[in-house]
Amino acid sequence: MYDGDIASVLITEQQIKDKVAELAKQVDEDYRQGGDLLLVGVLKGAVMFMTDFARALPQPAQLEFMAVSSYGSSTSSSGVVRILKDLDRDIAGKHVVIVEDIIDSGLTLSWLLKNLKSRNPASLEVCTLLRKPDAVQVDVPVNYVGFDIPNEFVVGYGLDYAERYRDLPYIGTLDPRVYTSGV
Ligand code: XMP
Ligand code: MG
Repeated sequence: MYDGDIASVLITEQQIKDKVAELAKQVDEDYRQGGDLLLVGVLKGAVMFMTDFARALPQPAQLEFMAVSSYGSSTSSSGVVRILKDLDRDIAGKHVVIVEDIIDSGLTLSWLLKNLKSRNPASLEVCTLLRKPDAVQVDVPVNYVGFDIPNEFVVGYGLDYAERYRDLPYIGTLDPRVYTSGV
């Protein structure tokens, strides 16, 4: 699949699987007495993580999705966010965990946190599979982080470049040839 486009495998399918199980266990322990756990997956990047995470979670959780788009180029975000698809339900009084694929500048997330907080959930936390170095400097509270990765553009397991590679079961870096030739 995608022969030659992937320069290197950064995180294998097995490593993802193990990490998802670990994060799910952590969240389960933290939300034992809470009740009404609601996961908010951010489309489309978090879809693979969200579905695997929900299945690995030993306790019941409701699944909601939101789609946002940040104005800017396809490989960086500006912090100006537009809602493409909002939640279907009210989250007031619920224990909400935002499920994200990746945090880079943290701009998208800080906007999302502010937006969801204004809807009065009982609690609001973030679980991200990947985090890039810049995100560490931004003041956004992220309780659950799968992997801290280098500052490289990654694809696979939900993450895309021009809508491709989301269906890869692992996370890899793209061969620069892909950007430059505009495949
Ligand atoms: P910020 O900078 O707002 O960006 O934290 C988060 C969003 O930017 C996208 N993003 C990536 N998408 N590979 C991707 O496929 C990457 O390496 C990458 N880095 C940032 C992504 O949409 C994420 O939600
Ligand atoms: Mg994207």
